[in-house]
Amino acid sequence: MRIDIISVLPELMESPFQASILRRAVQKGLVEVHFHQLRDWSVGKHRQVDDEPYGGGAGMVMMVEPLDKCITELKSQRNYDEIIYLTPDGITLSQKIANTLSIKENLLLVCGHYKGIDQRVRDLHITMEISIGDFVLTGGELAACVLADSVIRLLPGVLNDEQSALTDSFQDNLLSPPIYTRPEEYKGLKVPSILLSGNTPKIEEWRHSEALRITEERRPDLLD
Ligand code: ADE
Repeated sequence: MRIDIISVLPELMESPFQASILRRAVQKGLVEVHFHQLRDWSVGKHRQVDDEPYGGGAGMVMMVEPLDKCITELKSQRNYDEIIYLTPDGITLSQKIANTLSIKENLLLVCGHYKGIDQRVRDLHITMEISIGDFVLTGGELAACVLADSVIRLLPGVLNDEQSALTDSFQDNLLSPPIYTRPEEYKGLKVPSILLSGNTPKIEEWRHSEALRITEERRPDLLD
């Protein structure tokens, strides 16, 4: 998979791909991540990429021309399966969306800033708009990292067996059951004896019923 990310602050997104699992995924060649500084496509000498909104109002708008030029150039180099604008107005990111995106070849992520991007960029190029939740960030960069992380970890070969994505919360619409490691007792709190029993079918049964209990308690909407 290849992920291209357009932003005025690409440096904000470097470290997530330079540590741990994502770094290994990049090193193994399972994913390529390319950042593009939007100001490189600005026209004036001040490298301006934002301007005041027509009709007035607070905040600046990211201009159509630099974004259109940048996206058009990238599109001339390869076919993107999706061109995704990160925005609080988008559909909420879910495990299902991450699963769907993880089987694509080329993704282009567009990070907004200020009040957002000129509507004509959305009309011309954007195929999908994704929000990472009902709150507003200072820009789309952290959202792009969250989206990329959720997708990359699903690529074959990125996680090993123990980390397998198949047992994640949400893969079966259930939250995860409680988990423990050594010691057996800490500050009077004991590991449930079933987990020490060695009886795998009973352990699986317990895990499933705990997952159901926690899901009913916290996220009954997932069970509908
Ligand atoms: N940009 C600003 N806030 C955002 C959010 N919640 N999700 C995606 N992109 C954003």
